[in-house]
Amino acid sequence: MPVLRGDDPAAIMQAAKHLARGQLVAFPTETVYGLGARADSDTAVSGIFRCKGRPPDHPLIVHVTDAAAAVAFAEELPPVAVRLTRNFWPGPLTVVVRRRSGVGAAAAGKLPTVGLRCPDHPVAQALLHAARDRGVLGVAAPSANRFGRVSPTRASHVVDEFGVELMVLDGGPCREGIESTIVDCTGEFPVLLRPGTLARNALEQVLGEPLQARHAASPRVPGSMASHYAPDARVGLVQTDLITTAVEAAALEFGPRRVGVYSSSPLSPAAGVLYQPMSGNPSQVAHELFAVLRWFDVQGVRQIWVEAPPETTDWDGVRDRLQRASTP
Ligand code: TXA
Ligand code: MG
Repeated sequence: MPVLRGDDPAAIMQAAKHLARGQLVAFPTETVYGLGARADSDTAVSGIFRCKGRPPDHPLIVHVTDAAAAVAFAEELPPVAVRLTRNFWPGPLTVVVRRRSGVGAAAAGKLPTVGLRCPDHPVAQALLHAARDRGVLGVAAPSANRFGRVSPTRASHVVDEFGVELMVLDGGPCREGIESTIVDCTGEFPVLLRPGTLARNALEQVLGEPLQARHAASPRVPGSMASHYAPDARVGLVQTDLITTAVEAAALEFGPRRVGVYSSSPLSPAAGVLYQPMSGNPSQVAHELFAVLRWFDVQGVRQIWVEAPPETTDWDGVRDRLQRASTP
């Protein structure tokens, strides 16, 4: 199966037909590439779990054309979800709401709730609309990578994960680069389940109340597991003043071209150490982070040292992904 051009209307048609028949299509969103199946068919969705090697009790995000289409999967949108979707859809935001019974059970990992998202990407939107015209109510799509690995932000990453058997729509590099912000809207207070690229204070301004941290009763789901998003190489987070020491020790241990460093402090690393400069802008780092980790893997790096980002909230999304990537 070739990689299809996402800006080709014939390719969108072909992909929509594929989805309608219950088959898998990988497609770009503004966050990362998704591995899609029609969410209103439990059989179609089981193909995603098989393909990814993901445990079937782990819920997926259901993608819809707009808030009106969300009611096919949601019993209702509570006021908190209405406020969020009005302000941030289409965009990199997933709301978790009560699921309408009888629809999307497999996509939701049988939970009584469902994660819904309306992506802000022309190819994703074209695909969702074309599929809807063929009776598809929504498209379940986790990130298009094998379970536990780094999410893909380019079509070529998807091919690296799954080979050429899978239909892939190419929409170029993803604008945001890390997965959507997830807010649980089912409780008394909105809970931030996963930070993304949306600014926390922008969310709280719209909500008119603070976002709560996830608590013990929050569902344990794969995106929330301590170790996730991991490349093959070992990843370590290191404070600025310790980078040089850490990199030199790793270079001794692993030898030339087996150590990578990704840092915003200007470095002149020892010969044989692969260096990627990190921007001081969290949006830019989110945009390139997964591609940088994948690039180090392709180079055969064994140890990646990453300079720990600042502790400020604008780095929450990036810090979250780096912490998971560095947890063995
Ligand atoms: O940006 C994104 O959200 C990407 C693109 C493709 O849209 N998708 C994505 O899907 O990241 P995935 O499957 O890798 O992450 C889904 C995560 C789960 O790991 C879980 O944390 C959360 O969404 N989730 C989904 N449904 C949920 C539910 N009913 N309750 C709690 N968390 C849920
Ligand atoms: Mg994922």
